[in-house]
Amino acid sequence: MNISQTPEKIRELLTPLRGQHIALVPTMGCLHAGHISLIRKAKSLADVVIVSIYVNPLQFGENEDFHQYPKTFEKDAEICKNEGVDVIFHPKNLYPDDGPNITLKISHMGHLLCGKSRPTHFDGVVTVVNILFNIIHPDIAIFGEKDWQQLAIIRRMVSDLHMPIEVIGSEIIREADGLAMSSRNRYLSPDERQKSLFLSQTMLLMKSNTKNSHKASKIIRFGIDNLKKYGISIEYLEICNELTLNPENSITPQSRIFIAAKIGSTRLIDNMPLSITTENTL
Ligand code: PAF
Repeated sequence: MNISQTPEKIRELLTPLRGQHIALVPTMGCLHAGHISLIRKAKSLADVVIVSIYVNPLQFGENEDFHQYPKTFEKDAEICKNEGVDVIFHPKNLYPDDGPNITLKISHMGHLLCGKSRPTHFDGVVTVVNILFNIIHPDIAIFGEKDWQQLAIIRRMVSDLHMPIEVIGSEIIREADGLAMSSRNRYLSPDERQKSLFLSQTMLLMKSNTKNSHKASKIIRFGIDNLKKYGISIEYLEICNELTLNPENSITPQSRIFIAAKIGSTRLIDNMPLSITTENTL
């Protein structure tokens, strides 16, 4: 396994490999089972698998955890090696010394859901993903469905900017008790860890509630009431179209539940399809 630290080095390394099917798995490190599933998906689909590890300052807001973001490179490299990754791209900095001058901006989709409380976050994400795509020129790129809004926005970027890259989503990996895997789960105290289960449990209850009503507002009200019972501080709980991310009034086959909540001081996000077939929405 090769570890490249500069765009020049990785380009040089990839030159003789062009023509093979190249997959990129972009990450910010602190790899867990969720990332491993992305790597395995990449391995099953491509000849060459590259994992990028870069904590992108541009996607963190002023009061967010950029400086505290866990850095576990040795462990990450070990995981990549064991998973048969071909190259780790681990740049020190991806922006010019005087800071980013040219960035990408998302209009509508970047201001929905998480974008309401993190107004510049997705601009930072698409800017760095665009830089990674320009350096690596992968044929496919794999992103976790846990960050569904990010996945939907990146799909839209690739489509709007005519990038010859296939964006592939990889399903959410959950702990045995239902908590979606995230690098931020490590911040949870044992009590908070227990409380965090109400997120996935509430979404499951909302799903089964579609038997009683297909009105989104009713199902959301039910979910909010359930979370409030357990004292969870909800940032948003919405039912949106999974492609456009626009809120939906009634449930369709493309409806998905999106949630963000604070458990203690840790912000968690999750999402789940409502899995309604066309027949039973009629
Ligand atoms: O999902 C992440 O870890 C990051 O947002 C990404 C896609 C690696 C961009 O920094």
